[in-house]
Amino acid sequence: MKATFDLQGKRVLITGGASGIGLGAAMAFLRCGATVAINDLPSSENLKQVVADLKAQGHSVIAAPGNVGDADDAPRMVREAIESMGGLDYLINNAGTPGTKIPIPPSDMESQNEDFWNLLLNVNLIGPYRCTRAAASALKDSSGAIVNTSSIAALPTGGGSSSVYCATKAGLISLTREWSRGLAPQVRVNAIAPGCVDSNWMCRFPDDEGQRYDVDGIPLKRIGSPEDYGEAILWLAAGADYVTGQCLNVDGGMTT
Ligand SMILES: NC(=O)c1ccc[n+]([C@@H]2O[C@H](COP(=O)([O-])OP(=O)(O)OC[C@H]3O[C@@H](n4cnc5c(N)ncnc54)[C@H](O)[C@@H]3O)[C@@H](O)[C@H]2O)c1
Repeated sequence: MKATFDLQGKRVLITGGASGIGLGAAMAFLRCGATVAINDLPSSENLKQVVADLKAQGHSVIAAPGNVGDADDAPRMVREAIESMGGLDYLINNAGTPGTKIPIPPSDMESQNEDFWNLLLNVNLIGPYRCTRAAASALKDSSGAIVNTSSIAALPTGGGSSSVYCATKAGLISLTREWSRGLAPQVRVNAIAPGCVDSNWMCRFPDDEGQRYDVDGIPLKRIGSPEDYGEAILWLAAGADYVTGQCLNVDGGMTT
């Protein structure tokens, strides 16, 4: 059963929202009556299509194109989204990149070069900082909340597409705790750590052998859908009134 909140009049900005987990979160907030600004890369055709489709369905939604990995574009995008919606209640820092289509083993330090580090740090770690910094004042005004999308790759049980990716997602959990203290008491800050996701994520593990994922190691015996993750984000943002500084593993029990 899905959680229900009355979010009429609430304003949400979701980065990387034109696909996967971000779109799952957008659907959850829209279902509850919120206005949602969906961010994605300016080059994203998906963003235009998704926003047009959702508008046609009668939802209150705007496109907020911008690159969270760019020091100027990210705050510009956040400012414009806040201006368009007349404020902000929830910021969902969800955009992320693996920077590779094939997982890079920890032993391969050569492939994880300075350019690779810079890309992943910029999008996965500094991106959420840029958006949070630009949104902090509006979120304080509304006593709002932030939810960051980390990954189980950040956990000791992890194993992600690269060591650099794991480090950026672990850093985001650390920032979640820091910001929960820094923006308290007005703003709550939490994170989710997704397991396997049925999304367009660019990185595929070679042992998939045609299957998108192997569910044997998942106690709930299925891959998480964007809706599963969107529901967890919705609850941490709009419910969870006494929860802050936490990272919720949403992984079908994989890390147990
Ligand atoms: N797919 C997985 O297996 C998995 C597992 C754990 C965590 N995650 C995390 O979940 C989040 C969402 O991933 P997803 O699985 O929904 O993938 P996805 O590829 O379906 O969606 C990610 C979206 O982010 C956008 N994006 C990428 N770089 C951006 C940038 N610089 N600025 C703005 N938008 C940008 C992409 O265009 C895309 O629409 C990411 O942070 C990812 O690290 C994914």
